[in-house]
Amino acid sequence: MNNQRNRFVYRLWAPVYDAVLGRLFQQGRRRAMEQLGLKAGERLCLVGVGTGADLLHLPKGVNGIGVDLSEAMLDRAKKKLPIEGCDIELRVGDAQALPLDDRAFDAVILNLILSVVPDPALCMSEAIRVLRPGGRIVIFDKFLPDGTEPTWGRRLANLVSTRLGTDLNRRLGDILSGFPCEVARDEPSILGGMYRVVLIRQIP
Ligand SMILES: C[S@@+](CC[C@H](N)C(=O)[O-])C[C@H]1O[C@@H](n2cnc3c(N)ncnc32)[C@H](O)[C@@H]1O
Repeated sequence: MNNQRNRFVYRLWAPVYDAVLGRLFQQGRRRAMEQLGLKAGERLCLVGVGTGADLLHLPKGVNGIGVDLSEAMLDRAKKKLPIEGCDIELRVGDAQALPLDDRAFDAVILNLILSVVPDPALCMSEAIRVLRPGGRIVIFDKFLPDGTEPTWGRRLANLVSTRLGTDLNRRLGDILSGFPCEVARDEPSILGGMYRVVLIRQIP
């Protein structure tokens, strides 16, 4: 996975992303939003905001910025604005070098992005950098269970899925290793628990 390929792949995905994947991911998105427990007045960063599917689940009174590498995906997200009762800005940017200030957000959403960016640990490091002390991160994504190796079937499937813009074989434990954060909740989600919804708190 690299940024040039991701720009290309997600330009192709943009026109059909919501129609093809919208229903599949809806339950996980809802649960992620519940776990994050946003309150009116909080500042939210949506990293790899894509077509903005998460924006439709925001509670009123939240202000936020969505960042994505793909202008084509962001164009789709723009069509969902304005979100009633929320103030949302969209920016082109790299999740591995967010164009955002340190400690500027109460919460970060990392839905379906850690399996996509070239360097997920760098993406996590950036999410933690922009979070205020004690802030929280929610992740809805698929991961290889920690401490396991992919089966041959999963390795083969990954050859296809990486070409479609996502990696099946990343472990969340590896990505979080060494960062000042704790897993507050970790729940199995869709596709028999292959996808998970994970709430993380930054340790001040
Ligand atoms: C699978 S989509 C998920 C979009 C959205 N988060 C969602 O839940 O539907 C992955 C998104 O990551 C974006 N992306 C890929 N590489 C990126 C990077 N380096 N920085 C920011 N966004 C990136 C893609 O353009 C795409 O919009």
